[in-house]
Amino acid sequence: MALKSEIIPTGKRVVETSDLWRRNGHRGGVMWFTGLSGSGKSTLAAALEGRLFEEGYNVVSLDGDNLRHGLNADLGFAPDDRAENIRRVGELAAMLTHGGMIVMTAFISPYRADRALARRAAGEGFQEIFLDPGLEICEQRDPKGLYEKARAGEIPDFTGISAPYEVPTAPEMTIDTGAVTITESVEILHDYATRAFRLFA
Ligand SMILES: Nc1ncnc2c1ncn2[C@@H]1O[C@H](COP(=O)(O)OP(=O)(O)OP(=O)(O)O)[C@@H](O)[C@H]1O
Ligand SMILES: [Mg+2]
Repeated sequence: MALKSEIIPTGKRVVETSDLWRRNGHRGGVMWFTGLSGSGKSTLAAALEGRLFEEGYNVVSLDGDNLRHGLNADLGFAPDDRAENIRRVGELAAMLTHGGMIVMTAFISPYRADRALARRAAGEGFQEIFLDPGLEICEQRDPKGLYEKARAGEIPDFTGISAPYEVPTAPEMTIDTGAVTITESVEILHDYATRAFRLFA
């Protein structure tokens, strides 16, 4: 594996990132949503994507539920598979970012080390958004009925119940989605993203 990647020369880029940004009218970057199942990652990522799209931003969303059917269909939920899941998402998000896109990612991404790798791959445009309503509220919401199954022992390695979630130590933003409404959260995120990805900051 190491040998193979060493003999492949790094592709020379013809289009500079700064040219892409100038033409797009904004920088590329990642809004990396992390938090327990039911914390609102998919809900807020989709709402923010829609809002930014309407305003002419180049946006794309990567969501755990979709990627696990395609790119990451070969992966399960054991620690190594979770790490590989997030490694691929991080690399993909970085590629899209360097192609000028604003990328929304909605993955539990429970391990600090994996999120740190994603941050390193994407570079300075990476924004870690921690959604933190607390386990109790996530479990009450249980939009997919997963907590109920996990409590019944039907789902092994379920984050927050039988698998760990490592709380971000220095996220760019934390939202308590138990206290802040969806509409308010989208407003806060929109303000943040439009400032973070402004061309001349
Ligand atoms: N303030 C809020 N912010 C976000 N979601 C909220 C809020 N209040 C209620 N909800 C509801 O909570 C649920 C969050 O589910 P969502 O699928 O977005 O979570 P998720 O973090 O993507 O979970 P998973 O990791 O399982 O994909 C939705 O049904 C949403 O309507
Ligand atoms: Mg989701």
